[in-house]
Amino acid sequence: MGRPFITGVRTNLRGLYKEDLQTHMFDWTDDHEVTRYLFRGLFPNNLEQAETAYDQMINSEKEVELAIVDKDNDRLIGIAGLHSINWIARTAEFRILIGEKDYWGKGIGTEVTQMMCAYGFLKLNLSKIWLGVTKANEGALQTYVKSGFAFEGELRNEVYRNGKYYNVVRMSMLREEFEQSKSGWQLWSKIAGQFQA
Ligand SMILES: CC(C)(COP(=O)(O)OP(=O)(O)OC[C@H]1O[C@@H](n2cnc3c(N)ncnc32)[C@H](O)[C@@H]1OP(=O)(O)O)[C@@H](O)C(=O)NCCC(=O)NCCS
Repeated sequence: MGRPFITGVRTNLRGLYKEDLQTHMFDWTDDHEVTRYLFRGLFPNNLEQAETAYDQMINSEKEVELAIVDKDNDRLIGIAGLHSINWIARTAEFRILIGEKDYWGKGIGTEVTQMMCAYGFLKLNLSKIWLGVTKANEGALQTYVKSGFAFEGELRNEVYRNGKYYNVVRMSMLREEFEQSKSGWQLWSKIAGQFQA
């Protein structure tokens, strides 16, 4: 369904459709295992609110959200986006959610993180991509470190989930760090053609 916007090795990234909301909201963000370390999932899903947020997102020049699909069968497995894009400072926040849990731990998060960095730096001409991650979210931390994100600092007791407070780690990648990291990515030689002359 839909032409891929960015083609990876095991996944493609395509535009997010309104019809996708049913899947991603009700199957994923009401699943407490998926949202265990996220800001999402604190309140029950509501299709009307999600559609309003979707309409705002697609009409905003500060947000790009893409659907992650399995290249083999076109199954929608998650979403990834660049948010709060600041076109003056050329910064954006990266967020990712793989909602289909059978896809966790198979390198998909790493692949998508790297594709989104290439998209942000080489298509959108960003100079910095940053993110916030709950410190206890080891899979996410590993994914970002592996892709070349650097630690910026730690926010104490920033998130309350699961009956306790968690620290949040702020990480970022600068354009020059991307240029250095990408040649070490297994993925890079396979996707580079989409991003450079
Ligand atoms: C976090 C998330 C994006 C990671 O994606 P993924 O496809 O599962 O991660 P990968 O398979 O690419 O793993 C990357 C590295 O992290 C490690 N890792 C993955 N899950 C792990 C876990 N639960 N504990 C410790 N390490 C883990 C992997 O071993 C791998 O390192 P390696 O290559 O050295 O073996 C995904 O699990 C997810 O979307 N989770 C739910 C939502 C979420 O937490 N989003 C992130 C918010 S900041």
